[in-house]
Amino acid sequence: MKVLIATEKPFSKVAVDGIKEVFDAAGYEVAMLEKYTEKSQLLEAVKDADAMIIRSDKVDSEVLDAAQRLKIVVRAGAGYDNIDLQAATAHKVVAMNTPGQNANSVAELVFGLLVYGVRNFFNGTSGTELKDKKLGILAFGNVGRNVARIAKGFGMEVKAYDAYCPAESIELMGVKAAKSQEELFETCDIVSLHIPATPETRQSINYDLVGKMKKGGILVNTARKEVIDEAGLIKLMEERTDLKYLTDIKPDADADFTEKFPGRYFTTPKKMGAQTAEANVNAGIAAANQIVGFIEKGITKFKVN
Ligand code: 3PG
Repeated sequence: MKVLIATEKPFSKVAVDGIKEVFDAAGYEVAMLEKYTEKSQLLEAVKDADAMIIRSDKVDSEVLDAAQRLKIVVRAGAGYDNIDLQAATAHKVVAMNTPGQNANSVAELVFGLLVYGVRNFFNGTSGTELKDKKLGILAFGNVGRNVARIAKGFGMEVKAYDAYCPAESIELMGVKAAKSQEELFETCDIVSLHIPATPETRQSINYDLVGKMKKGGILVNTARKEVIDEAGLIKLMEERTDLKYLTDIKPDADADFTEKFPGRYFTTPKKMGAQTAEANVNAGIAAANQIVGFIEKGITKFKVN
């Protein structure tokens, strides 16, 4: 059994060592493809792989066509919009994710971005505190829940909206439930996005919605760039010079945002949310165990196709 670990953005060494230990114990061979720059390298590497661990690496029908022996691909992380699920199913490849494993890491980064934002990008001027500010969490999954937990430590008022999570479940965690995403944007000082990229959410964070924010509003995105209507957000930030956008996923229009909104726009150069040793270990080892569980026992928990 040969497992390919294909990570354009590599795991930490401690995570790779942990993953290898799991496969060594199972008697599987491991091949590494890290920091690759061309798709052709992935196409070559998957040829003889029976299983594969990926991060945000794209697995489309071309990759699946090349992967003649592939039985399972595990996205070490939460969002699986980088896997063509229909193509995986058509190729009889099981696709899984590892929900929750990197959630704390992403949630902590939200506050790194927020402190940087409210302190005016550390430019020496007086900023504001997070305490007593209203934080709106859009989607109350694993990351959203961790964000709520940490926000309480900052003394923030926390509200959340999730189209798929009942208000009672949100309120059980001591978080106010908003009735709609519009209400979240209207009533909160800061909105943090934790929605997946789906046909339904694509470009849903648009001019009208963000335009509902109060004066001085901050939008923070550690989810996906696809959920933002970039043209709409640019137009809005041109009109509303009080708004800030902080993101961990560089927009396609990064050059425009950078040029037009100095001091109001920040992006990490590369997605950093899950880039901690802990998240790499948690998600990487979970992925390895899920592969062994599937190959040896047919366990399909966390299958997404
Ligand atoms: C996820 O969906 O798990 C996060 O966006 C992390 O993605 P990454 O593994 O590419 O850092």
